[in-house]
Amino acid sequence: MPKGLKANFFRNIGVDLGTSKTLIYVKGRGIVINEPTVVAMNNKTNQILAVGHEAEEMIGKTPSHISAIKPLNNGVISDFEVAEKMLNYFLDKSKKKGFFGQFLDWPRLVVGVPTGGTEVEKRAVEDVARSAGAKEVYLIEEPIAVALGAQLSVKESQGIFVVDIGGGTTEVAVISLGGIVVSKSLRVAGSKLNDDIIHYFRDRFKLSIGEKTAEKIKIFIGSALDLGSNQEMKVKGRDLTRGLPKEIKVKEEDIREAITPSLIKIIDAIKSTVEITPPELIGDIMETGIILSGGTSLLRGIDKLIEESIDLPVKIIDDPITSVIRGIGIILEDLEGSKDILTTITREKPPL
Ligand SMILES: Nc1ncnc2c1ncn2[C@@H]1O[C@H](COP(=O)(O)OP(=O)(O)OP(=O)(O)O)[C@@H](O)[C@H]1O
Ligand SMILES: [Mg+2]
Repeated sequence: MPKGLKANFFRNIGVDLGTSKTLIYVKGRGIVINEPTVVAMNNKTNQILAVGHEAEEMIGKTPSHISAIKPLNNGVISDFEVAEKMLNYFLDKSKKKGFFGQFLDWPRLVVGVPTGGTEVEKRAVEDVARSAGAKEVYLIEEPIAVALGAQLSVKESQGIFVVDIGGGTTEVAVISLGGIVVSKSLRVAGSKLNDDIIHYFRDRFKLSIGEKTAEKIKIFIGSALDLGSNQEMKVKGRDLTRGLPKEIKVKEEDIREAITPSLIKIIDAIKSTVEITPPELIGDIMETGIILSGGTSLLRGIDKLIEESIDLPVKIIDDPITSVIRGIGIILEDLEGSKDILTTITREKPPL
């Protein structure tokens, strides 16, 4: 058993390093950070100007010497240096205020990783955590964390079907006996829906809009199915033919048309996972249904769309944006008893 698992006190910390959001859980204190995964840097001096909420405000508004960087892409670290700086900043911010707080460090980190990740991608997560000061790093596959966050006992033989639709990835996984039996990871999720809306506006209305506007439209009037609400919204952008500002009114059904091709890809991934699930587990899942998690599960009607297309009941987990970190929180409370569900990385041995 790794030495550190024995000493199990308050300095255990959990991290959900998501494409859109980073959350941190401190054992005994709960969720202490829930902020956008964004860093604003000065390109000339290479200095950090802002992290999290403050940096997100700058997206699309920065002068040429400042860039608002998202260090994760599709659930995977794409800018190692910035990810490391961001994690350092958040870990520092998680320390208790006061005189003794400054001496605290976070020796044991449990970090969520996507199921489909390669060894190299997992190693990048571990390396970022280590350079942020962690002495021991444990990885947990995110669907298992979601199931724990839903208060399910993942170590039993009862099959659990999890669909986590986040910002950068959709993770579909069937869990039984503390492990993943079958899974699929798809690089289509909330950010892709934003891109779909941007492209739709460009092609259909000849209007250029930014990423933040697209996200607002999705959240305000986006829907996966016709729910009879027929909402409308005024949107400001730049007219691509005249180059001048313009405001147009868009309908809920326009947005649905824009995002439907991506939603179909998500449905197809769920379908193909069901097709390869062992029949005994399908029986369990017909009883318990699909556990839907991640920020994009808040898209109106997405649960009904999945239910209608897959013929299985769908339940959106309570507070779907914090489900992974809540599950990691449960692991932190009993790190030693959880070691069998944590993932280890195979590091290549140096040649003899
Ligand atoms: N009410 C809502 N309706 C639709 N989408 C929403 C809503 N609220 C949040 N989202 C979307 O949820 C996504 C973020 O979800 P989440 O925080 O689970 O992602 P993440 O964990 O950072 O990403 P990933 O797990 O893919 O790395 C964003 O794309 C955001 O636009
Ligand atoms: Mg996530």
